Amino acid sequence: MAPKIVILTGAGISAESGLGTFRDKDGIWTKHRIEDVATPEAFARNPLLVQEFYNARRAQAAEARPNPAHAALAELQRAHPGEVVIVTQNVDGLHEAAGAEVLHMHGALAGALCGACDHRWEAPAAMGAEEPCPACHRPAARPDVVWFGEMPYYMEEILDHLLSADLFVAIGTSGNVYPAAGFVEEARVAGIETLEINLEATEASALFDRTLTGPASEAVPDWVAGLLRG
Ligand code: APR
Repeated sequence: MAPKIVILTGAGISAESGLGTFRDKDGIWTKHRIEDVATPEAFARNPLLVQEFYNARRAQAAEARPNPAHAALAELQRAHPGEVVIVTQNVDGLHEAAGAEVLHMHGALAGALCGACDHRWEAPAAMGAEEPCPACHRPAARPDVVWFGEMPYYMEEILDHLLSADLFVAIGTSGNVYPAAGFVEEARVAGIETLEINLEATEASALFDRTLTGPASEAVPDWVAGLLRG
């Protein structure tokens, strides 16, 4: 049976597509406070500030193109004989743009959600403070992204995949935010091989069996090519 691979990606895989990471120098959280733009309380307090923060990221993501790392993972999903599950913490659409199937555990900039009736629809380019929901018409539309303090999406499905994997790979993530940061520990306890691919060593590197360092646009295609060569 061909090995099942579960891959977790973070902001680092989209860095070379021009999208900012969060915790690198001049990262997104050096310019905005999480409690101002990425919590339900922030949205309740100042919906316009939050909508404008995501409007800017949505516009930037719309201009971005997948880089060779996204393309390599899509190729792996197509060509590897075993199942390849990609879970991303990212809210950009670059994995899909490269042709991959992906589980957005932190939601997606392309999605809008009604805080009143739970209706979901394709987000417009920009949303305002009192954005009406197309279903219930109440002014409760928000980005369909998971804020701090909210439950990530697909957790049951993700953990099922993770615990039935033969290899867990974390790409371009600092391992700072749970529950994603805990996946490597879950894999280790389950005796699953673990690999980290990152520009540099992270605080979590010691938890991985192996670490490949380098820019994702080089390290990921190299790793995929080696794997597909068998
Ligand atoms: N290639 C590979 N890795 C890179 C590159 C690159 N070109 N550039 C940066 N990195 C790595 C950094 O070394 C770092 O380990 O990407 C990681 C980015 O870490 P963070 O900025 O913390 O992003 P991430 O881990 O995705 O954050 C997780 O935190 O703020 C929340 O919801 C947000 O999904 C996000 C979550």
